[in-house]
Amino acid sequence: MNSREFQQHIFSWWEKNRRNLPWRHTHDPYRIFISEIMLQQTQVERVTAKYHEFLARFPRISDLASAPLRDVLVLWKGLGYNRRAMFAQKTALDIVKKYYGVFPKDPALLMTLPGIGVYTAKAVCVFAYKMDLPLVDTNIRKIITHFFYNDVVQKEKEIEKKALELLPKGKSWEWNQALMDFGALELSKLLPKAKSKNRSIPFKDTNRFVRGKIIDALRERSYRKKELLSLLSELTHRTDEVLEKNLQSLIKEGLVAVINGEYSLGS
Ligand code: ADE
Repeated sequence: MNSREFQQHIFSWWEKNRRNLPWRHTHDPYRIFISEIMLQQTQVERVTAKYHEFLARFPRISDLASAPLRDVLVLWKGLGYNRRAMFAQKTALDIVKKYYGVFPKDPALLMTLPGIGVYTAKAVCVFAYKMDLPLVDTNIRKIITHFFYNDVVQKEKEIEKKALELLPKGKSWEWNQALMDFGALELSKLLPKAKSKNRSIPFKDTNRFVRGKIIDALRERSYRKKELLSLLSELTHRTDEVLEKNLQSLIKEGLVAVINGEYSLGS
């Protein structure tokens, strides 16, 4: 299939199957940014409700920049990967301070901000500023690998080259949204079924589960260490040593604060 045929294939599928998602009704880079951060590792259905709630509470970037971290973390409840909430706020603060509250129209500059990688930087430029850039996320990589490389994994440079070649100039916004939808709705029907069992470890056995429980507890109130460890031991069935290690990481990252022996969400 050549580029032109592939574009037609995707766009004619999209005409019938496009999803109506809230962040597609705006070109406000702040709103696009929030949606992209929430959508990392998180399903669209879960993000949709939070997206509205978040923007009702922090309607402008300056509202997010000036909010206490704990308020942002409380609102983030249910989304997981709480570091994203902290990074989003740090980025908001940087943009207010360094860029007068305006998202730079440059992926290289956006990538210098906390928690923004190459994909997110480009996604903001495409979906807010309609820049002609190909996006490559996990699903888009799989789509390209399927249609052009027989499902054989390629080097990242090769995928990027192909993604650029496939991009219909002037229609970057539509193209990238279409690929997102195709990836979410159609891809699993096309890919060869993995034969091996799912080897990923159960969520409850991960440190992410423990970290989530710590933040959940501190969303409700603050604790003395002894009390916190005993609650967490019940909730997670981990040793004090493991709990302490996770607590220390969260403190180091700034998600948890200790003041006079009292543990609370970072501020
Ligand atoms: N995941 C990341 N960005 C998205 C978008 N704009 N639409 C759907 N899913 C996405």
